[in-house]
Amino acid sequence: MALFSKDLGIDLGTMFTRVAEGSQVVCEEPTMAAIVVEEQKMVEWGKAAQDMFGRVPESIEVMRPLKNGVIADYEVTAYLLEAVLRRTGGPFRLFRPRVMITVPDGVTSVERRAVHEAALQAGSREAFLIQQPLAGAIGVDLPIGTPSGNMLLCLGGGSTQAAVLAMYGIVAAEMLRMGGMALDESIVAYVRKKYGLIIGQLTAEMVKIKIGAAVLQDEEQSLEIQGQDQVSGLPRPVTLTTGEVVDAMQEPLHNMVETARRVLEKTPPELVSDIIDRGVALTGGGALLRGIDKLFTKELGVPAYLVDNPTTCVAEGAAKGLKMWELLRRNLPPV
Ligand SMILES: Nc1ncnc2c1ncn2[C@@H]1O[C@H](COP(=O)(O)OP(=O)(O)OP(=O)(O)O)[C@@H](O)[C@H]1O
Ligand SMILES: [Mg+2]
Repeated sequence: MALFSKDLGIDLGTMFTRVAEGSQVVCEEPTMAAIVVEEQKMVEWGKAAQDMFGRVPESIEVMRPLKNGVIADYEVTAYLLEAVLRRTGGPFRLFRPRVMITVPDGVTSVERRAVHEAALQAGSREAFLIQQPLAGAIGVDLPIGTPSGNMLLCLGGGSTQAAVLAMYGIVAAEMLRMGGMALDESIVAYVRKKYGLIIGQLTAEMVKIKIGAAVLQDEEQSLEIQGQDQVSGLPRPVTLTTGEVVDAMQEPLHNMVETARRVLEKTPPELVSDIIDRGVALTGGGALLRGIDKLFTKELGVPAYLVDNPTTCVAEGAAKGLKMWELLRRNLPPV
């Protein structure tokens, strides 16, 4: 039976759920579900649910079952994982898959158990947990099986994690329960304060991705967006520049840098000198923000670089991790 059942790596993220089989990502969908409120039944999930956001009657709720990296709604997470496994798990009822599913490092045992149980309830034959930075490091092929220091940041939508890894385990780590969504919120707050204009979070995210940056750029870009006047309630346009967006995001970016700094501070000096040589790997969707490598390099005094597969490495590493279970098992989180 094991011959026919699949081994899957699942990165259960606040914004995206990604599944890898071998080194292939076989599913990438927003971690969103549309629920019929009265029956508590899921009618759509992933991109289809996201497309319904803000466009449905009250009888349907479009929601994110994870908040800041951890499960906020257990039942809905289990439904969503079940749908994910139905799509990716092969002839499902006959051969249930084995999964390695990620959790942020530094969450409570209750939060970990919720993920483990949701994976089993969703139809996995066996479920193992792995810390996101450990999976990410495996997914970008850092030499974590050696006694040398490797540092990696996961800059997600709802969380920021920093970790130093050696000998297949985490030596020092920190988690901040705040990520890219907080950058969007800071843009919303900035536009409201400076222009008296209300903009939605999706607009703010688009601004961040299109013209935003972590540090000032040689070339300023600008973008006109539509907002709603705070007083009159009427629509009004405003043009934002890269410099303004950099300014708006300073505080949450500073918090992310501090998270990484705290990890370096508690890392043994021998490992720090390895990290200075090798640099800090930046992963997660947030690593795609223009200039974020420069920001971390400057603030940490250690070269930071964007990896080749920032958004998929955690799922890919989780899938690889199943094959490396013997090497990893001592360092995996207990359930
Ligand atoms: N080009 C880009 N520039 C800046 N930010 C980006 C870009 N592309 C994606 N992002 C941001 O990356 C974040 C999503 O990252 P990711 O998919 O790694 O999150 P996640 O794994 O679902 O969340 P978490 O790991 O916190 O649970 C969002 O905040 C999104 O706005
Ligand atoms: Mg993530």
